[in-house]
Amino acid sequence: MQKVIITGGTGYIGSHTVVEFQNAGYEVVIIDNLSNSNIEVVDGIESITGKRPQFYKADVACHKAVDDVFSKHDDAIAVIHFAAYKAVGESVKKPLLYYHNNVQGIVNVLDKMQEYNILNLVFSSSCTVYGQPEKLPVTEESPVVKPESPYGNTKKINEEIIVDTLNSTRKLKAISLRYFNPIGAHESAKIGELPLGVPDNLLPYITQTAIGLRKELSVFGDDYNTPDGTAIRDYINVTDLAKAHVKAVSRLTEDHDRFEVFNVGTGKGSSVMEIILAFERSTGQELKYKIVDRRAGDVEQVWADTTKANTVLGWKAEKTLDETVKSAWEWEKRVRGESV
Ligand code: UFG
Repeated sequence: MQKVIITGGTGYIGSHTVVEFQNAGYEVVIIDNLSNSNIEVVDGIESITGKRPQFYKADVACHKAVDDVFSKHDDAIAVIHFAAYKAVGESVKKPLLYYHNNVQGIVNVLDKMQEYNILNLVFSSSCTVYGQPEKLPVTEESPVVKPESPYGNTKKINEEIIVDTLNSTRKLKAISLRYFNPIGAHESAKIGELPLGVPDNLLPYITQTAIGLRKELSVFGDDYNTPDGTAIRDYINVTDLAKAHVKAVSRLTEDHDRFEVFNVGTGKGSSVMEIILAFERSTGQELKYKIVDRRAGDVEQVWADTTKANTVLGWKAEKTLDETVKSAWEWEKRVRGESV
């Protein structure tokens, strides 16, 4: 059985990715420091797949911790690197925390991959590296700009560190997946997104409002240059996104370019109002919301051209927006202990 190491494997996207690798027949080793997740996620993964992944509570920003795990698992064929801080607003307030954790993490991972001959890397990147693109949809050839936030900048810097490292050694290969907006939860509702405190992101805020934890959703701006005035994103189902990582590892083990980038989205933009309507339609819940000012740092509209992922990677988003939004609601109800 082929083995992969997944850093950040108990996090939101990481946990769904562990499930898809196990379902595809891989053995999975997780490294996670549980700074933004909890150990029960491993139970959820086991309950879905019937198999418990190996778990190490360890911090990828700690060189020795990465060495301990990689030295024991030098038979792994790939590393999928998620472990990183991800709150855009927090990164503006605490840039050094983000640069330390997110940059030291990739440095340690690449260093130990070289040392132990683990040759393939899948990196968790973001469409934030494109900023507000001039042309939509965004292709992988669209210019990369300096992102608005330190968090976004760590994604750009991570890609640069990967490319420089690959250029220095003929051994390693890497695929960077640039995610658009991941939403939803596993269809079993046994794993999903677990934001700490007040959620920054749209979907968790919506589900927490509908369940009564928040008074109402604030829609950040209705004066954008879009059909209904609210901002547009490409919302991608988290399980669909997870499957792209399995495809990426298959591709890395074949003969191809040493560094490739893929946009991972649906190819379709949805406005904030369209998401609210999809939520109400698919769950039968009415959502309280009000229009407020724009949020600083938000781009107006962005969605992916997914042609390269569809044709070269052989991956395509499958789930509909309604079923994805509904899966987020089923998860919220389960987390809050309401009957599903
Ligand atoms: N929004 C609201 N109200 C809320 C939360 C969000 O109206 O309470 C709006 C935002 O203004 C935006 C849209 O919903 O128009 C999506 O916002 P999210 O915060 O869910 O997502 P972002 O597009 O801001 O950010 C996401 C990821 C980042 C990543 C970025 C790349 O959270 O990690 O995409 O564009 F960097």
